[in-house]
Amino acid sequence: MQLIDEIKTKQNITEDQLVHLLTTEDETLLTSLKTTARAVADSVYGNQIFIRGLIEFTNYCKNDCYYCGIRRSNMQADRYRLTEDQILSCCQNGYDLGFRTFVLQGGEDPWYTDDKICAIVSRIRSSYPDCAITLSIGEKSEESYRRFFTAGADRYLLRHETADDEHYRKLHPAEMSLSHRKNCLRTLKRIGYQTGCGFMVGSPFQTMDSLYEDLMFILELQPEMVGIGPFIPHKDTPFADRPAGTLDRTLRLLSIIRLLHPHVLLPATTALGTIHPLGREMGIQAGANVVMPNLSPVDVRGKYLLYDNKICTGDEAAECRYCMQRRMEGIGYEVVTDRGDFR
Ligand code: 5AD
Ligand code: FES
Repeated sequence: MQLIDEIKTKQNITEDQLVHLLTTEDETLLTSLKTTARAVADSVYGNQIFIRGLIEFTNYCKNDCYYCGIRRSNMQADRYRLTEDQILSCCQNGYDLGFRTFVLQGGEDPWYTDDKICAIVSRIRSSYPDCAITLSIGEKSEESYRRFFTAGADRYLLRHETADDEHYRKLHPAEMSLSHRKNCLRTLKRIGYQTGCGFMVGSPFQTMDSLYEDLMFILELQPEMVGIGPFIPHKDTPFADRPAGTLDRTLRLLSIIRLLHPHVLLPATTALGTIHPLGREMGIQAGANVVMPNLSPVDVRGKYLLYDNKICTGDEAAECRYCMQRRMEGIGYEVVTDRGDFR
């Protein structure tokens, strides 16, 4: 298939080619897109799938993103914070289950000062020297990012959300800006973090142009990770009545990103598993190579709700861990006990 080979060889794509791949109903072409992307992932990472233990440690957020269920204006959200000891016990539980990456994710919560974050990171670093520590706590100053890095954090996830300025302003209040977010990502890379950007598929006002900008931004930044998943409305947000992104478009974009950036660590996200019961399996088959089961304590899980109908909110970490292993083995992949660094 000439088009797919061209994109794979050049590791680049034109906007016309993107529009074609996102709109075509040519099943032969779509099969080629998916199988080529999967073959590229296999050539770099084999049949190994990396697992990351996600610890959602606070759902307080000072931001007010229109799409997000934990935005500060959502008075219905039942807020919580985990203590340092609770976070450390999630890590212990995760370590025993074979996780070698811990992802500390939260809203932008000023209660966790830089000193508190550094204390948590240092404790995890000294207790689990063989593990990677990923932070996903939003936009901070260069100095803060440097302090976290020195304390022992290795990776940082900060989705850019959309690389199109006009689109960005339709998803966020005026106090947030795309240029600041992009600068944070460049700073993270410069400091030496394995850095992840990403966006939602099918977010309100997304266009082919904005998706093309997203891909061009990925090519420019050369992130080690890219997180994409469907937008899913949350009932208590301004976007409550907007349609969700589709499984089909998310899968096509996963494949395209794998072709454009072959070594990228690419998760099949919880949101993908939420819009379809086999969404994560299909994500892997389309070229993803990471899954991120939840390690948060069961009593807070149902509170970290960025969107409606989130899966796994009632399950123990061990259930998710073994569920994921079964799911991956079911499609011929192996979940490994490994930091799962970028190759
Ligand atoms: N649907 C899907 N993903 C969402 N996120 C936030 N709100 C939603 C939603 N309604 C994503 C954002 C954020 C990540 C942590 O979760 O992309 O960066
Ligand atoms: Fe912005 Fe939650 S309010 S990511």
